Amino acid sequence: MKGIVLAGGTGSRLHPVTRGVSKHLLSIYDKPLIYYPISTLMLAGITEILVICAPEHGAAYRSLLRDGSQWGVSISYAIQDDPNGLAEAFLIGRDFIDGQPCALALGDNIFYGAGLSGQLQVLAALKRGAAVLAYQVNDPKRFGIVELDGDDKPVSLEEKPETPKSNWAIPGLYFYGSDVVQVAEQVTPSARGELEITSVNEAYFQRGELTVTRLQRGTTWLDAGTFDSLLEASQFVQTVEKRQGLKVACLEEVAWRRSLITDDQMRERANEFKNEYRDYLLSLLQSES
Ligand code: TTP
Repeated sequence: MKGIVLAGGTGSRLHPVTRGVSKHLLSIYDKPLIYYPISTLMLAGITEILVICAPEHGAAYRSLLRDGSQWGVSISYAIQDDPNGLAEAFLIGRDFIDGQPCALALGDNIFYGAGLSGQLQVLAALKRGAAVLAYQVNDPKRFGIVELDGDDKPVSLEEKPETPKSNWAIPGLYFYGSDVVQVAEQVTPSARGELEITSVNEAYFQRGELTVTRLQRGTTWLDAGTFDSLLEASQFVQTVEKRQGLKVACLEEVAWRRSLITDDQMRERANEFKNEYRDYLLSLLQSES
């Protein structure tokens, strides 16, 4: 399965900060925000990644993420000229997807928790239909919501409903079969003028091809679209990292543990840094020797 990280959008809730810099380049404690969705895709076993961003930020992403070989993956780039909605990712990414199954990760969504990689690897094996996650939230009006029956089968989907039918939100990580581009081509803009991901999910749902996996309560899902949620996400990562001495979404570590890079490549990468990030990478090598 291939993977797209969608890192365009306006970031209007973070103005004036995001007038000068893309939201996904802002810092979540000790890493840029976009490291977190990239790590999610890598933990799912995905190694071919397309980053989609706004025209003015292309150079910054290329300089930060390069071609991905430092993490044993391939990263390519495409531009979204205007924030026309999440489903446009599949139209922009048509050539990259090339008739393969594809996952979509929103650039500002962070996942963390025990057992998550295994759950995601199962979903990344999908060939047909669509698979989304469900996460219990206490403010369902802000999200795409799924109503589930007793067997976890979807009963209805709603986008930011006034009177939500459930409090199960659909997080920004979606898995689709090889026909996703054709499905996205059929989507028409919503009342707010966007190609909605909910419309893509609705199309699979209507065909009886949408499956939903509930995330366990021990899993953390955060989206970092507001000043408060950015700060909360940073504090969450800081707390975990200080307590355990292990980093969240350290892409070199994910790559090394998954044998995508060798010890030598890890050492070479570590020496690109002159701070505690280097010490952390070298300490991982030492701890396993
Ligand atoms: P949103 O948080 O819905 O939108 P935004 O990032 O533009 O922020 P704001 O609401 O403050 O204006 O987007 C969710 C994610 O999807 C985010 O990472 C940006 C990305 N995105 C795109 O890349 N292209 C788009 O057309 C849209 C709507 C969002």
